[in-house]
Amino acid sequence: MSISLKDIGSAVLDTQYAVRGPIVARAQELERSGRTIIYCNIGNPQALGQKPLSWTRRILALCEYPDLATLSPGAFPADAVDAARKLLSGSKHGFGAYSESKGLRFIRDAVAAFITRRDGIESDPESIYLTDGASKGVQAALRLLLASPEDGIMIPIPQYPLYSATITMYQGRQVGYYLDEEHDWMLSRDLLEDALEKAKKAGTTTKAIVVINPGNPTGSVLDADNVRMIIGFAKEHGLAILADEVYQDNIYREGARFESFAKAMVALREKDVSLFSFHSTSKGFLGECGQRGGYMELRNVPADVSAQVLKMQSVSLCSNLPGQATLYSLVTPPPEGGPSRAEYERERGDILDELKARAVLIADGLNAIPGFRCNAVAGAMYAFPRFDLPTGMSDEGWCMALLEKTGICVVPGSGFGQLPGTAHFRATILPPRDQLATMVSSIAAFHAGQH
Ligand SMILES: Cc1ncc(COP(=O)(O)O)c(C=O)c1O
Repeated sequence: MSISLKDIGSAVLDTQYAVRGPIVARAQELERSGRTIIYCNIGNPQALGQKPLSWTRRILALCEYPDLATLSPGAFPADAVDAARKLLSGSKHGFGAYSESKGLRFIRDAVAAFITRRDGIESDPESIYLTDGASKGVQAALRLLLASPEDGIMIPIPQYPLYSATITMYQGRQVGYYLDEEHDWMLSRDLLEDALEKAKKAGTTTKAIVVINPGNPTGSVLDADNVRMIIGFAKEHGLAILADEVYQDNIYREGARFESFAKAMVALREKDVSLFSFHSTSKGFLGECGQRGGYMELRNVPADVSAQVLKMQSVSLCSNLPGQATLYSLVTPPPEGGPSRAEYERERGDILDELKARAVLIADGLNAIPGFRCNAVAGAMYAFPRFDLPTGMSDEGWCMALLEKTGICVVPGSGFGQLPGTAHFRATILPPRDQLATMVSSIAAFHAGQH
């Protein structure tokens, strides 16, 4: 018997993931037929020309093929050789062997040291789980929390569809809360209370709140007051917090800084709110999406629950070792004064400076289009402008028509969620500046032609 759709459950059938949906499929089709496409649909930096950091790639090469160091003497700086050696001895059996389910202890120590350097707080390597990208950590946390069909998770509107898709797949309920577009997409206590109250009336048991900071798709950066407000809200209502902090190095707005939930939690001496924090090698200045590295840090999670997380991680044995090493290179920069340091700082600075310039260029360009309004891209990798839809057109129809006419591939706001009656799209800031300028002028011309 060959299986048919009738054999597939609603958990899978109902799952949607707009970032790689029908508009992207059509873009690929057009590209195969010879059209030039500007892919602004996904935050995949190296696909749009971002160069990998030499520090990361040297470590990876040496870990995968340790003989390289002796076969090409002098080709690798001593600090990269040293880092790879430490990783290999930390792994005991090299990169072709499974690691512990939580990931190599040596790398978890390095992650804990990174958190301490970043936030001035303690971090326990035993509460850190290395994951195949942040996605797998998020999925593990949601799997853990969604225990019955009435269970719900608060997710932002707009949100990154990993959350809506995974909640659907695990047959939980989405409890959407609106972000405040008029106030730079911050979270508002009133809007949070509102969403929770509605969920309660619908018989939903809300278990946790997801916060994405810096924001995807909004490009917002939450300030310390907002982070503290969210912790207070979670405490009052007995919610866990899932803090998606994969864009923590992508901060562009002058004076803005990344405030981690872990740091705020420690400053508040908060012991009652369980926190799952996520980080990734895919974003920031590494942009190593294909290497699939990331971690999840647990705080205020009792030992018997952590044991369940460990059991879940054990089912897939461990995260991939090259991804773990990529994460090591993120949390362990080359030592000060070492031979790799100056090059590392230059490469890192060039990437972040360029992204900052693009963030300004795209927001200014979109704001100059009649009928468009875009909040500053303060962080992350996206602009999420609001625009006037021509009567009778959906945002999906508008984005598809934009693609057909101009070759520009963006994702409609409905794929992330938006206030009813409003229309948005998400575009990454990652294409090179000349392409971004073309993109903005083509969008302006296209939009003018629609009215
Ligand atoms: C907010 C957010 N979280 C998580 C992820 C997943 O990243 P990865 O699994 O590549 O680490 C992404 C990817 O775009 C993202 O934007």
